[in-house]
Amino acid sequence: MKRIGMLTSGGDCQALNAAMRGVVKTLANSREKVEIYGFLDGYRGLIYSNFQMLTGKDFSGILTKGGTILGTSRTPFKTIHEPDENGVDKVESMKQTYHKLQLDCLVILGGNGTHKTANLLREEGLNVVTLPKTIDNDLWGTDMTFGFQSAVNIATDAIDCIHTTAASHGRVFIVEVMGHKVGWLTLNAGMAGGADIILLPEIPYDIDKVIDKIEERDKKGSRFTIIAVAEGAISKEDAKLSKKDYKKKMEKNPYPSVSYEVAAKIQEKTGREVRVTVPGHMQRGGSPCPYDRVFASRLGAEAGRMILDGEYGFMVGYKNREVVRVPLEEVAGKLKMVAPDATIVQEAKLLGISFGD
Ligand code: F6P
Repeated sequence: MKRIGMLTSGGDCQALNAAMRGVVKTLANSREKVEIYGFLDGYRGLIYSNFQMLTGKDFSGILTKGGTILGTSRTPFKTIHEPDENGVDKVESMKQTYHKLQLDCLVILGGNGTHKTANLLREEGLNVVTLPKTIDNDLWGTDMTFGFQSAVNIATDAIDCIHTTAASHGRVFIVEVMGHKVGWLTLNAGMAGGADIILLPEIPYDIDKVIDKIEERDKKGSRFTIIAVAEGAISKEDAKLSKKDYKKKMEKNPYPSVSYEVAAKIQEKTGREVRVTVPGHMQRGGSPCPYDRVFASRLGAEAGRMILDGEYGFMVGYKNREVVRVPLEEVAGKLKMVAPDATIVQEAKLLGISFGD
């Protein structure tokens, strides 16, 4: 008999349910008897021992369902050692819940912050297996996270829609894409949607170079320009500031997000009409795309196999088109960013896409 605790933590994304279903189906198809403890709303469920007993039936029919049947929340790692408002020691409580329920392991689905806490729990002696989710695709140790391809599809659809209206009106259009501090989602959706300019956090932009590209297109007779801007994009000037000075500057920044600042600068310098579209959380919503359904199911199956093998302390990752086991200590605390000289960036430049650098 194996007692498995399961939780989803951090921002949700598509295919969380598909991944959990993969784990549970694999266990159900083995000879092992299992009990599944589903912790609700992320680490909070583990801290406050808030769980539901789940059976195979609960995981039936959820392959195509977005969100997470367990609910999720953010429990920032930087405050994990601080007691909660009632003085509860979060780490000790999580350990107590685990031991009280006599769990054999925890299956934790999450992104960067989630992995820091998962690794801490491993260091505290708990058996942990993790699965890499996030639309940002910024998790170290895996070439891909589930949720990412579904979000690329949605952000690309947004750019496709903008394309037709931009072409009709001869306007400059900015589509702001999610991704937190990394540009994978913007880069991929930008290329897929045929953006003319892509601004990423990893490649600080010069607004004059952005304008050069718009004017070059004008001269060639293109009536419109599409700019895909990552929510974390940063100008060359701002990139030179210390973290502290940048934070101070942003506190006084009158713009709701970076795209509006880029739009205002273009408008001011060229007199052109610029429109901004922010698809926002739509990018995390809806059904997982077929790629993510297959991908998350494969990772879930491997997590199930690891549990059956009694192999803990790993994230199930994906490297060179193979599902692999990556030690948690290698994953925690690192970001996988777009290298400014990555081949995909070079290829995008060959296609004529400007990065404003
Ligand atoms: O990490 C996933 C993500 O969607 C990022 O792309 C985005 O910056 C962030 O979460 C938004 O967080 P929240 O849902 O807390 O607004």
